[in-house]
Amino acid sequence: MPALMSPPAGGSEVPDPPSGGRSPGPPEGPPPGVAQVVVAATDADLASGLLWSAGVQAVVEEAGPEPGTVRLVCGVPGGGMAAVRAALGRRWVAEPVAVADAGFDGWRPFASAARAGRRLVIQPPWAPSPVGPGELAVEIDPGRSFGHGSHPTTRLCLAALEAETDRAVPRAVLDAGCGSGVLAVVAARLGVRRVVAVDVDPAAVVAARANAVRNGVRARVDVSGTPLAELAGRFPVVLANLGERALLDHAADLARLSAPRGLLVVSGLLTGRWRQVAGALADAGPLTMEDRTELEGWAALALRRRRFGGRLSVRPRPRPPAPAATDWR
Ligand SMILES: C[S@@+](CC[C@H](N)C(=O)[O-])C[C@H]1O[C@@H](n2cnc3c(N)ncnc32)[C@H](O)[C@@H]1O
Repeated sequence: MPALMSPPAGGSEVPDPPSGGRSPGPPEGPPPGVAQVVVAATDADLASGLLWSAGVQAVVEEAGPEPGTVRLVCGVPGGGMAAVRAALGRRWVAEPVAVADAGFDGWRPFASAARAGRRLVIQPPWAPSPVGPGELAVEIDPGRSFGHGSHPTTRLCLAALEAETDRAVPRAVLDAGCGSGVLAVVAARLGVRRVVAVDVDPAAVVAARANAVRNGVRARVDVSGTPLAELAGRFPVVLANLGERALLDHAADLARLSAPRGLLVVSGLLTGRWRQVAGALADAGPLTMEDRTELEGWAALALRRRRFGGRLSVRPRPRPPAPAATDWR
């Protein structure tokens, strides 16, 4: 059965409108593609983690050609094949795959609702599940994008978003790398009046808009392909489930887009690899780390932008455990 892989291991400012708001044009340079890697089943988690660290957009595990092997199929951003091959080194070989053969729809018959935080239920529209009292059901069809809600990196962000809105519903949220729009749509369903969602992948922009419509929040969710560097304004909450490489590349933008006293949540990090991103964010702006949450080998960092400058503290203050977190060191 195909499965999306896991790896080994309120402010007050209203943002300016995004400078874009435009439809995404075709990406420059080589187009995005799909790659496959065949590995021993025992190496699947390790290889998947390396693929994620190279910036791939999804990793699906299928049965491999030989007994005891698995085939990892991943979406590769335009020009990203070199990074994938570098991450895998000499041990494994990544090969391009024709998109029609990629099998990205193979998971659909097996899809089920995902739970995150205290009360969030992310449902595939074609397979709704019973929702308990007090739970918030959100329907998400990722189409050809990342984000059906069950991935640990997404659930860590959802838990952080829910906790923040429980304290006070922020006036605006930025979802940087929105994929299916799951975080943006949940933010709007939690009561956020203005959500800006951006993604470099045109398929994600299409899917996120459709999911905003599906959940009745299209008027509050502005989805576009606007590059992070071109976004203006400061957001009381910034969610960036982008993976290590993109977080390092965009640390300055993420710090700039975070409002004073606002929360910046970064996710998509392997548990052993969060320090470099924390350091990059420390260099990029006056951010204090409040939490590091972990789930199934993934880590997310929650940082608060201070009102004034200074260096980042990387020691999170102790807090009681939350449902999505397994490690609060
Ligand atoms: C791991 S997915 C997260 C999707 C969704 N936010 C979630 O949490 O499930 C990362 C997304 O970020 C997008 N992305 C990667 N680099 C980006 C960048 N520099 N700017 C905007 N989006 C980016 C990818 O296309 C992909 O859709």
